[in-house]
Amino acid sequence: MRRNKLVAGNWKMQGRQAGNTALVGSLLAHAAEWSGVEMWVAPPLPYLQQVGALLSGSTVSLLAQNVSHEDDGACTGEVSAGMLADCGCMAVIVGHSERRSRYGETDAQVAEKFVRAQAVGLVPVLCVGETLAERDAGQTEGVVLRQLEAVLQRAGVKSFANAVLAYEPVWAIGTGHSATPAQAQAVHVVLREHVAVVDPVTAAALRVLYGGSVKASNAAELFAMPDIDGALVGGASLDANEFAAIARAARAAQ
Ligand code: 13P
Repeated sequence: MRRNKLVAGNWKMQGRQAGNTALVGSLLAHAAEWSGVEMWVAPPLPYLQQVGALLSGSTVSLLAQNVSHEDDGACTGEVSAGMLADCGCMAVIVGHSERRSRYGETDAQVAEKFVRAQAVGLVPVLCVGETLAERDAGQTEGVVLRQLEAVLQRAGVKSFANAVLAYEPVWAIGTGHSATPAQAQAVHVVLREHVAVVDPVTAAALRVLYGGSVKASNAAELFAMPDIDGALVGGASLDANEFAAIARAARAAQ
């Protein structure tokens, strides 16, 4: 089954209004280069509406980096799924490893975020990934399947028809050391096959992105793998030329 490539940029906690305007402007100058590839960018929460307006009429969609696991109400500092949808987001990252490790998000909370996002029509991008210690201990498969299974149990396999998976090995994030294409491909297959056991049709259509030190220089070899359907890009998404080059690599691999 042919899956459309998706390249998503996660700006993390970086950006200011002037820089955002310049970055989006430079990126959109390359728009003709990624036709057929889906492109999403995730600015920090305070800039969603600014960046949404800059992207208006373009082929790049607005992604949020996080969402509350609770509904509207007395939750100081939280942002609900309904608010993200109201601000023009079409998708949201849930369960990023930085949220899990630095802010103590549990598998159960991540599953709740996933459900809340879908309830308002947002596409959740569910991140899973192991630490270096877990990989060295031979626990990669167990960890990513535990993280996936928590959401499968809560949301059901059919929910993955409107979701994206992202395999982000923690040891590859922000380190400059990407997983090799073969390492990433192996985990992507584990994830897809786990879904396929219960629903082969959903599994075949499910896009599994790779994230962790994706750059223009390694994107093509990653995208050449049959189960790598795109990338979730951190640092390199802050450089328009670099990000556009990753998008070109995705287009070439379509
Ligand atoms: P880097 O591309 O900076 O390694 O970050 C990956 C990531 O965490 C994307 O969500």
